Amino acid sequence: MLNLIIVDSEVELAKKASKIIINKLRQKNNLVLGLATGQTPLLTYQYLIKDHQKNNRCYQNVTTFNLDEYIGINEDNKCSYHYYMKHNLFDHLDLKKENIFIPKGTNDYLQYAQEYDNLIASKNGIDLQVLGLGVNGHIGFNEPYTNPKLKTHVVDLTESTIKANARFFKKISDVPKQAVSMGISSILNAKEILLIAFGSTKALAIKKLFNLLKPDPALPCSYLLNHKKVTVIIDAKAGQLLK
Ligand code: GLP
Repeated sequence: MLNLIIVDSEVELAKKASKIIINKLRQKNNLVLGLATGQTPLLTYQYLIKDHQKNNRCYQNVTTFNLDEYIGINEDNKCSYHYYMKHNLFDHLDLKKENIFIPKGTNDYLQYAQEYDNLIASKNGIDLQVLGLGVNGHIGFNEPYTNPKLKTHVVDLTESTIKANARFFKKISDVPKQAVSMGISSILNAKEILLIAFGSTKALAIKKLFNLLKPDPALPCSYLLNHKKVTVIIDAKAGQLLK
């Protein structure tokens, strides 16, 4: 069941998304939060930081699990998702280091990927998973025709994703060809899911998603149709092809 909310702008989207996260946190101070990277959640994270600073919102009992990480770049590399999370969110909240989990992209990444879903389960699962959306409909780094039964695993990135993410790197050849990502099945295990997307580049994927009655392997986000509690917040541009 997808609950669709269309807002006017990226700012409205971030305000709404951050409110949903904060409300969850108010209900449960030991929230287990699934987090995403990319351009989309940046402003939402800024609203979380503002709220933490203004209202003393406490994250000391919160646990976070990130969706994915590139393979082959170090955690202190500016393009890694470890770096992104540290600088765009974690450094500004009072989370405990030991409660922060991100798939590894170097060293024993394969072993860590295999343990990742057990780690999530050991915290009683993710209460709220935040998701962005790839231009090709991917969630996390689950590309089209991925096996939906997979848990956290190694992914070969498609040309389309490498191109789309090249904007975060100096040159396209710097974009890693592989990543570790929570699988569709790991994502669907979350108790609740919040998908956010803005801008016209996401409009086609959004149109396809809302025209489907059941999941289509060509559109990984459509597996969300199998989940009972998904909120999708988009801006008018991402919704421009919806009738
Ligand atoms: C990346 C990430 C996803 C993210 C998506 C959208 O490939 N792995 O987790 O949701 O692309 O990114 P953006 O928000 O920058 O459009």
